[in-house]
Amino acid sequence: MVKICCIGAGYVGGPTMAVIALKCPNIQVAVVDISVARINAWNSDTLPIYEPGLDEVVKKCRGKNLSFSTDVEKHVSEADIVFVSVNTPTKTQGLGAGKAADLTYWESAARMIADVTKSNKIVVEKSTVPVKTAEAIEKILTHNSKGINFQILSNPEFLAEGTAISDLFNPDRVLIGGRETPEGKKAIETLRDVYAQWVPMDRILCTNLWSAELSKLAANAFLAQRISSVNSMSALCEATGADVSQVSHAVGKDTRIGPKFLNASVGFGGSCFQKDILNLVYICECNGLPEVANYWKQVIKVNDYQKTRFVNRIVSSMFNTVSGKKIAILGFAFKKDTGDTRETPAIDVCKGLIGDKAKLSIYDPQVNQDQIQRDLSMKKFDWDHPVHLQPMSPTSVTDVSVVWDAYTATKDAHGLCILTEWDEFTKLDYQKIFDNMQKPAFVFDGRNIVDVEKLKKIGFIVYSIGKPLDD
Ligand code: NAD
Ligand code: UGA
Repeated sequence: MVKICCIGAGYVGGPTMAVIALKCPNIQVAVVDISVARINAWNSDTLPIYEPGLDEVVKKCRGKNLSFSTDVEKHVSEADIVFVSVNTPTKTQGLGAGKAADLTYWESAARMIADVTKSNKIVVEKSTVPVKTAEAIEKILTHNSKGINFQILSNPEFLAEGTAISDLFNPDRVLIGGRETPEGKKAIETLRDVYAQWVPMDRILCTNLWSAELSKLAANAFLAQRISSVNSMSALCEATGADVSQVSHAVGKDTRIGPKFLNASVGFGGSCFQKDILNLVYICECNGLPEVANYWKQVIKVNDYQKTRFVNRIVSSMFNTVSGKKIAILGFAFKKDTGDTRETPAIDVCKGLIGDKAKLSIYDPQVNQDQIQRDLSMKKFDWDHPVHLQPMSPTSVTDVSVVWDAYTATKDAHGLCILTEWDEFTKLDYQKIFDNMQKPAFVFDGRNIVDVEKLKKIGFIVYSIGKPLDD
């Protein structure tokens, strides 16, 4: 029986391995992690991440051909294929700080693999890494290899959170990069045979190592660039009276452009878009391509501008001060159907409002008070380290309360901001909310999900992204 071990039981390692175990009953899959709390959660009824459909998949395979363990070395030494899906945060210190990827966790995983391995292995880069990382990993592995043959493959993951299980069941493509030697090609075939158990062959793309590594950074950069493009248009729409939903619909109808990823928003968030673009920018700079670096940098700048613009709109609409005013924040996760808050635009918006002395009452159906307090007090990029290694904040943020429903959050508030597009926010009783708010009652919809006309009729002053403004 083929044995797979995945180092890193996070948002990628957990769901991907659970799906491999489900689709390949002939493969034994072990997911290992240095975080005891995470592994305990994977072995419990409350999984460490919220992802629609994940519970069912895990329940079907756990205890059969899927296991979660902290015994990293044992499972790595027994495996034929080792996936590495550990954190690759943005460096906060030293050369490339604020841009380059910090490969500390990757390197320590590679050194451990080299130390414990007694038989030939395929090592698969699942984490998103800078192009040419495989070269460094190869050096680390072969330097200590004691005659053992390691083949490195790049198999970047394209799942999106909130839809991870359906993305994994039915991927647009699976990308496998490897060395163009006979051994490299054989390793590619071995991994291709795993995916071929449920993915059609024409969706499994095989390339050289560097193309696979770079394609992942490029795909995220292209996706984020579409959002910054439409968000830049949203600013122009507000200035001219055009409606960004109508503009993006018209633009997306062009089959060469397509309709997806054109929703204007308060800004993109999530653990990867910003990190991966900063990484791309750094690689361009290191390769003497400042014009290319500046082009991609602009995608991040527009995203930051969009978040700042949203905060400024709130403050200026509310008579230039939110000092002492209660503002309800509906939604804190970076998108709906996930409890993940990494780089969520809600952090910057809340910090902006707190900076102007607002009192926030926050509600998100999947994010708890501890997480929100951590997010609001943590330094930039510190979130992207294994949970037990994250620096604890010395003080909690005052002027923030976290509540468990939208009606409590909005009671006596002067304004409400929608920062995540949870379906339940479209179904709220806005008349009841209006009746319980201070007047004039403001709505700032950072996701364009409310029925603007209906809310205006109730009496709200409504601000949506990229829509004609109230006078
Ligand atoms: P994560 O933080 O959820 O999980 C990483 C896990 O690795 C953590 O549980 C950590 O404890 C563990 N870990 C770190 N070093 C370790 C070591 N030496 N030995 C054992 N375990 C170790 O991160 P994630 O969201 O799963 O992302 C992992 C990688 O996948 C990143 O490179 C990311 O860019 C990429 N990626 C993420 C997504 C996504 O949707 N989150 C999608 C595609 C790619
Ligand atoms: C993204 C990519 O979609 C995945 O393919 C990739 O694997 C992953 O990053 C990764 O490498 O981590 P994810 O961040 O989970 O996935 O979620 P997305 O659906 O891409 O949304 C990212 C952010 O963009 C969210 O804040 C979302 O609200 C925002 N967004 C998305 C918009 O503002 N407008 C849109 O039209 C689409």
